Amino acid sequence: MIKIGLLGFGTVAGSFYDLVEENREGLEKITGQKIEFKKILVRNIGKYNRCKNLLTINKEDIFEDREINLIVEATGEVDRLASPIEEALKRGVNVISANKALISKYLERLILTSKKSKASLKFEGAVGGAIPILSNIEKLKAAGGVKKVIGVLNGTSNFILSQIENGLSFEKALELAKEKGYAEADPSADIDGIDTMRKINITSSLLFDKFFKEEEIETIGIRKINEDRIKDALKSGKTIKLIGYGDKNGKIYVRPEELEKNSILGSLKGGENAIVFFTENAGEIVIKGMGAGGRETAYSLVSDLIDIYGK
Ligand code: NDP
Ligand code: HSE
Repeated sequence: MIKIGLLGFGTVAGSFYDLVEENREGLEKITGQKIEFKKILVRNIGKYNRCKNLLTINKEDIFEDREINLIVEATGEVDRLASPIEEALKRGVNVISANKALISKYLERLILTSKKSKASLKFEGAVGGAIPILSNIEKLKAAGGVKKVIGVLNGTSNFILSQIENGLSFEKALELAKEKGYAEADPSADIDGIDTMRKINITSSLLFDKFFKEEEIETIGIRKINEDRIKDALKSGKTIKLIGYGDKNGKIYVRPEELEKNSILGSLKGGENAIVFFTENAGEIVIKGMGAGGRETAYSLVSDLIDIYGK
């Protein structure tokens, strides 16, 4: 039986709960196991009007419950959860996380721990929402490798830049991005490029077998972008996108760049993300889809569950 300790019950974790319930029959068939939500960690129980009997504010209720064999984490909390998650992996508990802040910061430690303990650690939802980016990396590497990777990996920034092109102000566009559930609780990480930095860090580390230090990744966001620059670019068939770049020589950065409006990355709209892998043997491979949103990201968490338990 898959006994889940769910960390968080917000936009992503709440959607994960819903997707599992809506697809329970199919998932139990694919995994060959019954699935049970055992406990759900939140900070403020009063905010929630369902699953009251499962909610807890004590993380020990989950981490010390020896029946829980899968932790699904979508909180946004970083340092307070890293060690308990590491300890859970050591005990053989499988972990799925959408939390790029935690994964990016503790990537090396968590990967080494999961390799040693043979517990699964999956975090597809941490990079590109619904898009299967990370699950394709091993295949891309096995097929000869990748020279460089370029992505538009932050739905909030892409949405804001697209809306400014449509005539909205930065502030109004950010407000809408929050309403749509794209933005982080504190949207600074989105608009300052930090969210993209975390995603290109995770992706490049897995692709190039090298762990980067977050603080060494040059990161420029869109907070100070000049709205006239965006409109001028548009007049000449160009568009500004927030780009994450990584290559096999260890170069890695995040910054707004001017692209042709009709290029793959330049034509992305709203909360869309895309990533282009420049492969050694097969030209450019593009993966595109919805990069943010509760149900979209929950879709990746469910796909991680299937990767771990699928027969
Ligand atoms: P929300 O703010 O909607 O939900 C966060 C949930 O986690 C809430 O239930 C909150 O409880 C709980 N929580 C937060 N901190 C703690 C803590 N210290 N202890 C216990 N519970 C806590 O965030 P999202 O669902 O949008 O995001 C969750 C994670 O998923 C983040 O890491 C985010 O980066 C990532 N993510 C989000 C995407 C999106 O489009 N929204 C896409 C991809 C990844 P309470 O409500 O009681 O405070
Ligand atoms: N805040 C993130 C974004 C959510 O806007 O892309 C998806 O990781």
